[in-house]
Amino acid sequence: MSVIPFKILIVEDDVNLNKGLMHVIKKMGYEVYSTTSGEQALKQIKQHSFDLVISDLKLPGIDGKQVLKAAKQYDAGIMFIMITAYGTVDTAVSAMKQGAEDYILKPFDMEEFKVVVKKTLEKKSLLIDNIHLKRQLKQKYTFDNIIGNSPSMMEVFKTIHHVKDSRSTVLIRGETGTGKELVAKAIHYNGDRAAKPYVPVNCAAINENLMNSELFGHVKGAYTGAISDKQGFFEAADGGTLFLDEIGDIGKGLQQTLLRAIESGEIRPVGSFKRKIVQVRIIAATNRNLEDMVEKGRFREDLYYRLNVVTISLPPLRERIDDIALLGFYFLRRYAAQNNKQIEEISYDALKLMEKYNWPGNVRELENIIERATLFEESPELTVASLPSIFRHAVSRTPRRNINSLDQMNRTHIEEVLESTGGNKTEASKILGINRSTLYRIMKRFKIQ
Ligand SMILES: Nc1ncnc2c1ncn2[C@@H]1O[C@H](COP(=O)(O)OP(=O)(O)OP(=O)(O)O)[C@@H](O)[C@H]1O
Ligand SMILES: [Mg+2]
Repeated sequence: MSVIPFKILIVEDDVNLNKGLMHVIKKMGYEVYSTTSGEQALKQIKQHSFDLVISDLKLPGIDGKQVLKAAKQYDAGIMFIMITAYGTVDTAVSAMKQGAEDYILKPFDMEEFKVVVKKTLEKKSLLIDNIHLKRQLKQKYTFDNIIGNSPSMMEVFKTIHHVKDSRSTVLIRGETGTGKELVAKAIHYNGDRAAKPYVPVNCAAINENLMNSELFGHVKGAYTGAISDKQGFFEAADGGTLFLDEIGDIGKGLQQTLLRAIESGEIRPVGSFKRKIVQVRIIAATNRNLEDMVEKGRFREDLYYRLNVVTISLPPLRERIDDIALLGFYFLRRYAAQNNKQIEEISYDALKLMEKYNWPGNVRELENIIERATLFEESPELTVASLPSIFRHAVSRTPRRNINSLDQMNRTHIEEVLESTGGNKTEASKILGINRSTLYRIMKRFKIQ
């Protein structure tokens, strides 16, 4: 095993001991520096980047504890061994509390000294490995603007990484506001066809009558009003990605048309006799339960299987509590910068409250809440008072231990929000972080008046 070229500083005012320690460290194969005073030690720590400082506790002037403090402040990754002649466990323990990795009591023999040094340096290499590993993981699986540290999000990152360069159809699922569109974009823009077009289509908004023309385009004169040739979505996305959003909201007619186009890769603009071949990668997204829809005959089974080659399921925010603070700070930084506000903190109580909350509108709701709070906050910190009152209210009414089903919790929450807005649905949908049509749909499903 080769020796990692660690750099070590010895701070010892006993000149003979100092020389002895230097000799031992040199023989162990490390680069070693030494000094007899605390003042000099502080200077050297700033000049060289040491991996380990070994210091006597009792020094004339600046003592070992101050050296320890300064070293750790300068670089928390510097390891520290305290040497003390005053063999009370107390001083040693207090040094450890201040961040020293280990201590050694005088008098000691050199073998003992070597063991302590070796052990500490092992810790250091482990630390280096970890940092390295984390960095690698990050480079491999983080997609710039998708924030998340929870295991379920790590899985999502991994899948994005595996599919980004392929042509396989990807189905992205998740509740409203969980980041489906964000993931679709990440797949496209991190893939090898990033320079090609990314064309998002809201399927729920496609006009059924103009459907063929929207998807496949038309030629001039194909029908009244077709005053020039027009490209459809498929052709516009040629070579790149077609993102079919809200795929669960389309009628049977469109389902069949889409299936045919996806399977053949061929399109024919309305009014034209010529077929065109297009190379399009399909990504689809929905917050609907497609299996249920297939079972009830509302979604074509063949289209379902065609789309469902690779599935990415985005977990609801309430199921990845660890990500809440992370996202909170991320949005705080973004909106504070955007609005020229000097707010950097979110109070502990506010974070705790946020972690208990149900987040029916998921990340979008969190983003909206932080944006608003940042806008109105006058102190340098977001606190419980910065959160919307309905939010606190809802939390106290629906604690996490509640055995209600999620549906019931959502229902109660939506009713409360509606109550607080005096029945104003536009206002309520803003607070909930969902669009109005989604709110209507949910209200219908829950039979909320
Ligand atoms: N992991 C995340 N990190 C950072 N921002 C996120 C994350 N997830 C979602 N967002 C943000 O939340 C908002 C909603 O995300 P997005 O539009 O992708 O959700 P969606 O799943 O498509 O929702 P819907 O079903 O309502 O269309 C966006 O502003 C997005 O940037
Ligand atoms: Mg969306």
